[in-house]
Amino acid sequence: MWKSSFRLLKNSVKPRPKHLQWSNLSTQLQKTPTEVVDCVVIGAGVVGIAVARELALKGRDVLVVESASTFGTGTSSRNSEVIHAGIYYPPGSLKANLCVRGRKILYKYCSDHGVPHKQIGKLIVATTLTEIPKLRNLLDHGIENGVEGLRMMEGFEAMQMEPELQCVKALLSPCTGIVDSHSLMVSLLGEADNYRTTFSYNTTVIGGHIQDNSIHLHICESKDLEKCVENSSVRTQLILVPKLVINSTGLSALRLAKRLCGTHHGVIPESSYYARGCYFTLSKTRTAPFRHLIYPLPEDGGIGVHVTLDLDGNVKFGPDVEWIEGMDDISSFLNKFDYTVHGDRKNRFYPEIRKYYPNLKDGSLEPGYAGIRPKLSGPKQPPTDFVIQGENVHGVPGLVNLLGIESPGLTSSMAIAEYIVSKFLR
Ligand SMILES: Cc1cc2nc3c(=O)[nH]c(=O)nc-3n(C[C@H](O)[C@H](O)[C@H](O)COP(=O)(O)OP(=O)(O)OC[C@H]3O[C@@H](n4cnc5c(N)ncnc54)[C@H](O)[C@@H]3O)c2cc1C
Ligand SMILES: *[C@@H]1O[C@H](CO)[C@@H](O)[C@H](O)[C@H]1NC(C)=O
Ligand SMILES: *[C@@H]1O[C@H](CO)[C@@H](O)[C@H](O)[C@H]1NC(C)=O
Ligand SMILES: *[C@@H]1O[C@H](CO)[C@@H](O)[C@H](O)[C@H]1NC(C)=O
Repeated sequence: MWKSSFRLLKNSVKPRPKHLQWSNLSTQLQKTPTEVVDCVVIGAGVVGIAVARELALKGRDVLVVESASTFGTGTSSRNSEVIHAGIYYPPGSLKANLCVRGRKILYKYCSDHGVPHKQIGKLIVATTLTEIPKLRNLLDHGIENGVEGLRMMEGFEAMQMEPELQCVKALLSPCTGIVDSHSLMVSLLGEADNYRTTFSYNTTVIGGHIQDNSIHLHICESKDLEKCVENSSVRTQLILVPKLVINSTGLSALRLAKRLCGTHHGVIPESSYYARGCYFTLSKTRTAPFRHLIYPLPEDGGIGVHVTLDLDGNVKFGPDVEWIEGMDDISSFLNKFDYTVHGDRKNRFYPEIRKYYPNLKDGSLEPGYAGIRPKLSGPKQPPTDFVIQGENVHGVPGLVNLLGIESPGLTSSMAIAEYIVSKFLR
C-alpha cells in the first residue's frame, strides 16, 4: 500500500490501495516498493492539470505528481494571463494550431464554468515607418493561421481608440483576451478531482528506467530531495510503473528527459535555455491608460514589453527577455530558479514603453514579478515549436514528453490535452 509504506503519497487527495510489487532490477532499486498505476502526469502546472482532466474524463485513473507543495507555482502563475489569438507562429506549427484551437475551447470553458476572463482585444503597434512591413507580415501569418477579425488600422484610428497611444499603424486583434489563470487551474483541477485523479504534492520524479518494456519512474519526497541538492546522492523511495506517462514539467522537462535511461538520447534536444521575463506594474494611476492590450513588435526571445491589463484593471508592463544560466537537475525539479525582479531593469523599460506610450511618467514603474520561459533555442536562434514526443519519436512505450511549452502554453493548455488524448491514448 503506498499510503502506509510512503508518507510521500500521504497528501494524495484520494489514495487508492494498489498491489505492491518488488523490482528486481539492481540491488539499489531491489528493495524499492513498486506500484503499477494507469496514468501518471508529472507536473501540476496548467498544462499538466488540463491533461489530467482530459484523461480522467476519458475514464482513466490518473495520478499527478508535483514537486511543489501545491499546483501552479511555476510558470503557470508567472505569465501575462493573455488568451492569445494565434498570430505569431509559423502556419502549420503546433503553436499555431494548438493556440487557435486552445483559444476557442478556453473561451467556451471559461464561460461555461464561470472562470473570470474578458475578451478585451489587442493592438500590435508599429511606432516607426520601418516597422510597418513587419506588421503586415504578422497580419499574413495571422490570417493563414485562421485568426478571425484581424484588421490593419491607420495610426490616427488606433490613437482615437486609445488616446494615450502613439503609433503610425496598428494591427487590431479582437479575439485576444485575458483570463485569471489561477481560477482556471482551480476549475480544471476540481473537475479532474471529481473523476479519478489523485494529486500527490511534495513529490518529485527524479528519473526513471525501462524494464520489461515498461517505463519505471523513480519517485522521491521533495523534502528529502532538498537535502540532496548539495551532494546529489538521491535515493529513489518509490517506483511507479504507469501505462502512460505525460511529462509536463515545464522548466525541468528536458533535464528529466535526460535522466531517463533507455531513451534514444539523440531525439531529445541537446540543451535547454532559460529566458527570464520581468514585469513592472504601473503605480500612481487612478484609471488604466489603455482599454486594450498594447503590444510592440516581437523581439528576440519574446513578443516585446507590452501592456497587460488584469481583470481588476491593474496595468503591468512586460515581460522583457533576460537569458539566464540553467542550474543542476535537482534544483530545477524543485523550482529553485531566481525570480527576483531587479529594480534597475526598469531603466530599460521606460524608453521601450515610451515608444508607444510617451506620457509614461518618471517614477511610475514598480517591480512586479518574473517568470521564466522554458526554451529549446538560445539567443539569436530562431524560435522553436512546442515539442510533443511520443513512443514513435523516442522509443519509450507509454511516455509522452512535453518540451518547450512556453507562450502560448496557457492559451493552448486544453488543446494540448485534447491532442495528447487523441494521439497517445491506447
Ligand atoms: C514571462 C512569461 C509570460 C507568458 N505569458 C503567456 C501568456 O500571456 N499567454 C499564454 O498563453 N502563455 C504565456 N506564457 C506561457 C505559459 O505560462 C506556459 O506555457 C504554461 O504556464 C506552461 O505550463 P506547464 O504546466 O507546462 O508548466 P509549469 O507551470 O512550469 O508546471 C510544471 C510543473 O512541474 C513541476 N515539476 C518540475 N519538475 C518536476 C519533477 N521532476 N517532478 C515533479 N514535478 C515537477 C513544477 O513544480 C511545476 O509545478 C508565458 C510564459 C512566461 C514565462
Ligand atoms: C508540503 O510540504 C510543505 C513544506 O514541507 C508543507 O508545509 C505542506 O503541508 C506539505 N503539503 C501537503 C499537501 O501536505
Ligand atoms: C548527502 O546528503 C544526504 C542528506 O543530507 C546525506 O544523508 C548523505 O550522507 C550525503 N552524502 C554525502 C556523500 O555527503
Ligand atoms: C520527462 O520529459 C522528458 C522530455 O523528453 C523525458 O525525456 C523524460 O524521460 C521525462 N521523464 C520521465 C521520468 O518520464
